[in-house]
Amino acid sequence: MDMLGGISASEFLRDYWQKKPLVIRQAFPGFQCPVSADELAGLACEEAVESRIVLENDAGKPWQLHNGPFTPERFSEMPEKNWTLLVQGLDHWVPDIAELLEHFRFIPNWRLDDIMASYAPEGGSVGPHYDMYDVFLLQAQGHRRWTFGGHCDHTSPRVEGTPLRILSSWDGEETVVLEPGDMLYLPPGVGHYGVAEDDCITLSVGFRVPTIDDLLTGFTDFLCNQDKAAEYLGDPDLKPQDNPGIIGSEVIDRLDSVIREQLDDRRRLALWFGQYSTAPKSLDIVVPPEEPADRTELAEAIRALEPLRWNEGSRFAYHEFDGETALFVDGEQYLLKGDARPLAPLLCAGARIDMQALAEFAGDEALLGLLTTLYNQGSVYFE
Ligand code: SIN
Ligand code: CO
Repeated sequence: MDMLGGISASEFLRDYWQKKPLVIRQAFPGFQCPVSADELAGLACEEAVESRIVLENDAGKPWQLHNGPFTPERFSEMPEKNWTLLVQGLDHWVPDIAELLEHFRFIPNWRLDDIMASYAPEGGSVGPHYDMYDVFLLQAQGHRRWTFGGHCDHTSPRVEGTPLRILSSWDGEETVVLEPGDMLYLPPGVGHYGVAEDDCITLSVGFRVPTIDDLLTGFTDFLCNQDKAAEYLGDPDLKPQDNPGIIGSEVIDRLDSVIREQLDDRRRLALWFGQYSTAPKSLDIVVPPEEPADRTELAEAIRALEPLRWNEGSRFAYHEFDGETALFVDGEQYLLKGDARPLAPLLCAGARIDMQALAEFAGDEALLGLLTTLYNQGSVYFE
């Protein structure tokens, strides 16, 4: 695969993914950054956009963080050097940025977090740190000097007096200067420190995984929210005991078996995980169209092969059960049976839907209903 510097997706996943960093020179040859520093500053002034400014030295305090939205004046007052503007979820706001994601489809949709942009003038940095994300750092404009290496975790020493997790005694192992089109892949836990050499924009394509705590709390919340009458533990076999204070081991055995029984439900686990991992990060991401469409209009547009695509920022995934397929779109689930099942892989393959193949489904009322729902909730639109 070109973008991976001549190695295949399988080789990349086998040798580097979650294992070690990879510098890819000219992953995107002749790359032109689709956003300017001014546009990033403009986005950072909007309420719906998550943005941050990091100052290396803020009136004597190290590595200070300010959360957006900001006022335009804020940017005219910024010092000439040594600060960074971070804009989160750029794939949702800038279609040309979302386009980049099509190069990363060898990684499952559910793993994707978002594309973050950082703008920094000379000397700007967010400090030496590590993330628990897999990230591809694409140099989009200007030059950034990256030092990286060494495995870090919550025990690694940190700088005091800053809300950011900045590593204090960390040296890194390798240093490279990236220019536009170059890309650095970093697995979770690898320390890194990127300093802008000139006016510099870096795009971070981030991939997330849930923590074990997220899984436990998320799945158990899902199990508990099912619409059902409360069930109580009973103890019809209760025996007299020597001391009323004893919680007997038979009680713990019973709790243990009840909890295991509840958790041991692969179907519900899959349904929960699909919804959880495609849920939009904020309410602003999936917005209904100004004019809702009805089934007839949608069927006509699909038959005319008008290009239908995902809303930038929407997440699509599916899971095949025996006998049915669950399609997950933006945190909702749709169960497909029989001839409808191939619709799921078709909708999930990439942001641009294969219209020839989709037209085959346009005669089916139920599927047309589903496509109309997806359209009217804002998960897909006609380009
Ligand atoms: C940056 O681009 O300045 C920060 C990205 C990162 O280190 O994760
Ligand atoms: Co980082």
